[in-house]
Amino acid sequence: MQLKAAIFSTLFLSSYVAADVTVTTNPVTSYRHKLHIIQATIANHKPAFVPNSLTNVDPGDILRFVFNGTVPHSVVRGDPSNGCQPLVGSTAFYSGTQSTKDMVNGPMPMFDFVVKDRNPIFVYCSVGKHCQEGMVAAINPTNDQTLDAYTSKCTGASSAVSPKGPNGGFLNKITLKVTKTS
Ligand SMILES: *[C@@H]1O[C@H](CO)[C@@H](O)[C@H](O)[C@H]1NC(C)=O
Repeated sequence: MQLKAAIFSTLFLSSYVAADVTVTTNPVTSYRHKLHIIQATIANHKPAFVPNSLTNVDPGDILRFVFNGTVPHSVVRGDPSNGCQPLVGSTAFYSGTQSTKDMVNGPMPMFDFVVKDRNPIFVYCSVGKHCQEGMVAAINPTNDQTLDAYTSKCTGASSAVSPKGPNGGFLNKITLKVTKTS
């Protein structure tokens, strides 16, 4: 009896361990690429990316820009040396102009960019004068290429340029239907 019980618990234990191993190798829980969310929104009555600075973003990580309000915004990868002007090349990206009509239920547009390298990424909103008003953000800024320096280039820019059409990333929309249970 006791031996049977011991065998049983050993089997039980080993299947439990096996299950545990399955969990830790599950792509969702052990995925090494991180998701970094930046909201394109209005903060303190001004158009803004929140947060507007991220460090330690690794190649393979995903930058997700969520357009969470009714005011239209866009995200453009900027040329670090020209305020409010798009970067040109294979690591450029542009979301197009996005907004949501319903801030509770969505659909909430989001634009994902897979980070390719460790170079600093500067972004701006190309809608209206948002870029000149400081709607910019820096990902992996360096001592030589800072958010402050990029911001002053943008606030002094004469115009903000939108690339021709969305490119360089993945545009998705998520609908958040909230059901009242009482
Ligand atoms: C949009 O993002 C801002 C900044 O993170 C946040 O304060 C606000 O609650 C968000 N709004 C919605 C509807 O999620």
